[in-house]
Amino acid sequence: MESKHSDDQIGRARVQDSPELEAYYKELETLGAGALWTVANDIEPWEPKSNSVPMLWKYDDLRALVLKSSELVTPEQAGRRVIYLVNDKRKDVAAAVGWLYTGIQVTRPGESTSAHRHRASALRFIMEGSKGYTVVDGNKIMLEVNDFVITPNSTWHEHGVEEDGETCIWQDGLDIPLVNALEANDYAVYDGKQPLTAPINHSPMTFGGAGLIPVDTIWDKPYSPLFKYSWKNVYPNLLEVAKVNDINPFDGILMQYSNPLTGGHVMQTMGASIQLLPAGFKGKAHKHTGSFVYQCAKGKGYSIINGKRFDWKERDIFCVPSWALHEHHNLSETEDACLFNFNDLPVIEGLGLFQGKDYLENNGHQI
Ligand SMILES: [Fe+2]
Ligand SMILES: [Fe+2]
Repeated sequence: MESKHSDDQIGRARVQDSPELEAYYKELETLGAGALWTVANDIEPWEPKSNSVPMLWKYDDLRALVLKSSELVTPEQAGRRVIYLVNDKRKDVAAAVGWLYTGIQVTRPGESTSAHRHRASALRFIMEGSKGYTVVDGNKIMLEVNDFVITPNSTWHEHGVEEDGETCIWQDGLDIPLVNALEANDYAVYDGKQPLTAPINHSPMTFGGAGLIPVDTIWDKPYSPLFKYSWKNVYPNLLEVAKVNDINPFDGILMQYSNPLTGGHVMQTMGASIQLLPAGFKGKAHKHTGSFVYQCAKGKGYSIINGKRFDWKERDIFCVPSWALHEHHNLSETEDACLFNFNDLPVIEGLGLFQGKDYLENNGHQI
């Protein structure tokens, strides 16, 4: 059955205003009520509609200001010393896109924070530095550039950099706007530092190997027992996959970070994936529901989002709003490019809200 997209047709609200109706609406308003047909076409769009705009945050522009934050305030004063990236159209909810928050956090050698937890889930993608670490529910995990780390819903977590390390900068991703929209967020501060309950790197060394899981694993948590996905394993994996698989015309080689026990998303509300765009790759355009925050982990290229070109290189961050047409291009003819993203797909998919459409005009490329 073909669908029509005109508000003139039967089935859509098409009532003409009249003095009698205006008076009627006013009377309803005094009772905290309203006539659905006056708002129906707005609150029920024909297709998914995003309030966010595509945006790109250039790391070269931001880096100095991010570092400056470490001269202006201590982690103790700030709680979390983070510069957050906010969408021009989502300032009211502090979102980078849709219901997702993102920020850039800097930690100097020898600095550490006290632990806290919140109902919002969090993740990190490491941008630079060495000997940074995070402690998640008593598990201390060392961080390297391009590692992906999770601190799920309500886990105690704290971060720091060892004395002999180098200043660390990482991207934080949280679902704070979503959890706030659902009016379900909370926050607690731990008194001091968490005691370590496992050897350092226990989680990645136990669950991040060759597809092996200890047979006596008892894990009843709704998130991945693997807290860190190491770039030193992820990138070679992408290259292996690319050798023996067709390149997807939209996404190149797109791989989801997964819970090794279930194969599902790493957390309940936010997912993440990494994609490799082979040298010379010119992705075709499509759109789908779900909000996405990207960071370029390697190489350089550009994305066309709703007809506008955004050039990116390593460490730049950009967003693709729900239902925005997007295509990714690698600008190098010799080197691959890699894009990390985190998203709200576990929510979108879990609630049955995922849909997509390929762009068929102009051989799949936007003008
Ligand atoms: Fe946190
Ligand atoms: Fe896509």
